[in-house]
Amino acid sequence: MEIVKLASHEQPPMDLLLLADPSPRLVEEYIERGQCYVAQAGKFILGVYVLLPTRPDTVEIVNIAVDERHQGQGIGKKLVNHAIETARQLGYKTIEIGTGNSSIGQLALYQKCGFRMTWIDRDFFIRHYEEPIYENGMQVIDMVRLSQDL
Ligand code: ACO
Ligand code: ACO
Repeated sequence: MEIVKLASHEQPPMDLLLLADPSPRLVEEYIERGQCYVAQAGKFILGVYVLLPTRPDTVEIVNIAVDERHQGQGIGKKLVNHAIETARQLGYKTIEIGTGNSSIGQLALYQKCGFRMTWIDRDFFIRHYEEPIYENGMQVIDMVRLSQDL
């Protein structure tokens, strides 16, 4: 498996990107403004992440997803670590990521990769999504914001 930057003429893997964010409108916006990286084995795309510059010296992983058949095998961790290393090489000083209050596995993964919680964007998922979203038996309401210095 290798992780590579998607060329501008290549189609982003929308099915995977929508696993991480149910809003096609937000996903389109992220891939328009950000840079997409894919984990691939031959022609098969196993995972994806999108890096988006947000403020001076700061970049955010706005979307990360692994094909459902290949989750839990360490690919997500490789993608997060690749994003951190890429951001560092590009000269950014801070990398950020945000996830839902209910996303227990994601919160574990990001902290295992060195992210620390910074603040809570309360009601984010109420403000930005028309339909209620449920995960792990909880409604997704608040966004937990995490960051790490590079
Ligand atoms: N408690 C403790 N640790 C946990 C838990 C838990 N409940 N759940 C997961 N983990 C840990 C695992 O143990 C593992 O760490 P380890 O290697 O130290 O054991 C790590 O978290 C998960 O590692 P991977 O196997 O690399 O993860 P995976 O390949 O499954 O990718 C991902 C994770 C991307 C979240 C995947 O499950 C996915 O695509 N989910 C659907 C889309 C999604 O939710 N994306 C994130 C949305 S937020 C955003 O995009 C910014
Ligand atoms: N993902 C999703 N849901 C989870 C997860 C998970 N990883 N882990 C637990 N839950 C849910 C369970 O599914 C269950 O909800 P459900 O009924 O909707 O399925 C709920 O959390 C746990 O319910 P209980 O079985 O009632 O919990 P338990 O009797 O085990 O008590 C407690 C929980 C008090 C935390 C116990 O495990 C304990 O004593 N732990 C050690 C001491 C401790 O950590 N105390 C808290 C410290 S913080 C403080 O004291 C303020």
